[in-house]
Amino acid sequence: MRTMRVGILGCGHVGGALLGLLDTGRAEIAERSGVDLEVVRVGVRDLARSRSVGGEASTPARRTPSGVKSREEEGARWHQRSSYPDSRFTDDLFSIAEDDEVDIVVELIGGLKPARELILAALCRGKPVVTANKELLARSGRELEESSRHSGRSLLFEAAVAGAIPLVRALGESLVGDSVRRVIGIVNGTTNFILTQMAEQGLSYEAALSLAIGLGYAEQEPSADVEGYDAAAKAAILAGLAFNADVTVDDVYREGIVAVTNDDIALAQRLGYEVKLLAVIEREARPGVVGPEKDSPRLSVRARVHPAMVSRVHPLAGVRGQFNAVFIESDAAGELMLYGQGAGGLPTASAVLGDVIDAAHSLTTKSSARPVFRRTVEFLPIEELRTEYCVYIDVLDQPGVLGAVATIFGEHGVSIRWMEQFDLSGEARLVFLTHIARESDLRATLADLEALAVVERVGQVLRVHGQGES
Ligand SMILES: NC(=O)c1ccc[n+]([C@@H]2O[C@H](COP(=O)([O-])OP(=O)(O)OC[C@H]3O[C@@H](n4cnc5c(N)ncnc54)[C@H](OP(=O)(O)O)[C@@H]3O)[C@@H](O)[C@H]2O)c1
Repeated sequence: MRTMRVGILGCGHVGGALLGLLDTGRAEIAERSGVDLEVVRVGVRDLARSRSVGGEASTPARRTPSGVKSREEEGARWHQRSSYPDSRFTDDLFSIAEDDEVDIVVELIGGLKPARELILAALCRGKPVVTANKELLARSGRELEESSRHSGRSLLFEAAVAGAIPLVRALGESLVGDSVRRVIGIVNGTTNFILTQMAEQGLSYEAALSLAIGLGYAEQEPSADVEGYDAAAKAAILAGLAFNADVTVDDVYREGIVAVTNDDIALAQRLGYEVKLLAVIEREARPGVVGPEKDSPRLSVRARVHPAMVSRVHPLAGVRGQFNAVFIESDAAGELMLYGQGAGGLPTASAVLGDVIDAAHSLTTKSSARPVFRRTVEFLPIEELRTEYCVYIDVLDQPGVLGAVATIFGEHGVSIRWMEQFDLSGEARLVFLTHIARESDLRATLADLEALAVVERVGQVLRVHGQGES
């Protein structure tokens, strides 16, 4: 069995867990996979830092009174070795990417720079590259894929979307002969944890966020998660995979969860829904439109991230806590759902390791890399979205108000499916569920409502998923 020499760039949560897996499990991995993997070099920023290498275990232990397992309580199972960092460590990462003694490069430093340059340098030297870097792929996926194609070496990124869940392989390989219509994902564990705490424990957004930070599920500076940027990057990568489309994070419509209130969640629950932050990518058939490639129909794609009401009968509604799940709708396979741990050092390293083994196999056999991020597509604006909406407005409790409000809905062609009035002191809250309406019409309705003297406040708008959305 040939030994494949691995260079790891980055030894943090994921890199450290991968190093632990490979150092302690080398013989077992070789037996299972048929490749002998030896980590020969490790790149970090700070060589003086003492390191624990191994990663947190995924096996559950106890529960806190709030029903949440903390990372510490999950029985952090660190394969401590006092000799880390050892002679393999360096702070010159380019010397690893360009080292002729390294067969496979694993990029786990994250961010755009110098990760992009390191990956390009490794591919240029004829090395397959494994990365978990969603941020970079969502910006430069097409460039990196082209470089991989030119070099004839694989660029593998299973861990970049939904951590341990084998989603990239499912979309990029298993479903490659099928035609994916839509992918709907809960792909950010932090926001799903916060929304679950708000829904099940009645915590305010601020309290749920503090709990998430305390348990290590959210960063001290949480905007990447709560503003939806992380989910948007994953949506861009998913669109690249599912539709072979050149989609960047800038093409993704994005709303976070910061404006979602306990009232919104209570209302949704009363109506039979759960509020989730969804990443949705979908294609639309536009017959008669022909793209630049001969006889190739132009593909219209929409990618969006926003809070949504998910019908309780939909499988995504039951995804709780920090878990991720992705629901795929395709022409032949129908509906599929993948569920699991979307983050964490060890679960993510497991996905990275699968890619490293694939990369090792690709060096002994011909690369089977499939082109992704290639096609130029038309992006559908969010204003053209047609779905049902739930909206509430607080109004002065006076005669004639309901009629005035209903007239405005009617003027914009937004038809009301259900309505209920709640008494507040001196005011009334009117809650509306609409029939399927165009987003631009709904926005125009809200703008006119806001201008109405009797309307005190227009509340958060939630798009309703699961009732014939298009
Ligand atoms: N953590 C997760 O649950 C998770 C899940 C899915 C995907 N990912 C992705 O996996 C990648 C790694 O994440 P992580 O959580 O392991 O990150 P991390 O804990 O912050 O570790 C980053 C590592 O890279 C090194 N590094 C960073 N910038 C560097 C630079 N300019 N030069 C040299 N070394 C540098 C750091 O060195 P020092 O140790 O010396 O500071 C550290 O070892 C990211 O792309 C992330 O998006 C992470």
